[in-house]
Amino acid sequence: MTQSHIGLSKAVIPAAGLGTRFLPATKATPKEMLPVVDKPAIQYVVEEAVGAGLSDVLMITGRNKRPLEDHFDRNYELEEALSRKGDTERLGRVQESSDLATMHYVRQGDPRGLGHAVLCAAPHVGDEPFAVLLGDDLIDPRDPLLSRMVDIREREGGSVVALMEVDPAQVHLYGCAAVETTADSDVVRVTGLVEKPDPADAPSNYAVIGRYVLDPAVFGILRETPPGRGGEIQLTDALQRLAADESVGGPVHGVVFKGRRYDTGDRADYLRAIVRLACEREDLGPEFRTWLRRYVTEEMQSL
Ligand code: G1P
Repeated sequence: MTQSHIGLSKAVIPAAGLGTRFLPATKATPKEMLPVVDKPAIQYVVEEAVGAGLSDVLMITGRNKRPLEDHFDRNYELEEALSRKGDTERLGRVQESSDLATMHYVRQGDPRGLGHAVLCAAPHVGDEPFAVLLGDDLIDPRDPLLSRMVDIREREGGSVVALMEVDPAQVHLYGCAAVETTADSDVVRVTGLVEKPDPADAPSNYAVIGRYVLDPAVFGILRETPPGRGGEIQLTDALQRLAADESVGGPVHGVVFKGRRYDTGDRADYLRAIVRLACEREDLGPEFRTWLRRYVTEEMQSL
């Protein structure tokens, strides 16, 4: 169900990464276009933004990302061919992605990190709060996260990050938050943030997963943020500044997510995401599950 939120209508999706973990598949195809069952990963993310009432979507792209623009545009030749054949079902699926949202694109130029990618959105976003969705994280639409984050921004002002408790050994893969509890069991106050800490220095096991609702004050901070971890301008570092001084852009809160999240950023997780989502599909699931059960049984016997 689509919800509308006064004052929040824009989503920014950074999609300029090179996708080196998936080479050679990503040599000539953007990683965001890799299929998760039968839809490109990026379409799930745009659908999530639209589902939370954010139908103005700005994608931060780079070289070799043209297929992203084509995917969310009309394809008259294909539509013509399908309607001539009377294949309305497939025609509907082709049109779905072009009718989804109002899409905008800006190129990042030099890939100088996530913070820099978000800064490229400043002219489009202007002085409004906005959401950032990272394409490697897929959030199951049955477990709404973004709408809850938007609600918290509307109630508390400032910025809101999505957090998930992870195994302490995994914290070095994420931005990590120091937190205080609030009256809401799923909301914490973020008092500090550190990008990809060594486990010994991690302030908690609350990891930032790729959803943010940001106050536009973040742009001013990003302009002054020097390169951090990995020599890149880190969004986490700018958020740390916001968390440390509420007078700049309001408080930073975290919504603690306990739902289903699929990480398509690395190969093994990507495979797991496909298997899980395929099992749950009404059309493919029953047959696929039967096959999977048999396959797993055979595998166990051969051990
Ligand atoms: C980025 C952020 C990190 C965050 C992560 C979530 O890292 O820099 O803070 O925890 O996304 O997926 P990346 O995974 O792009 O290295």
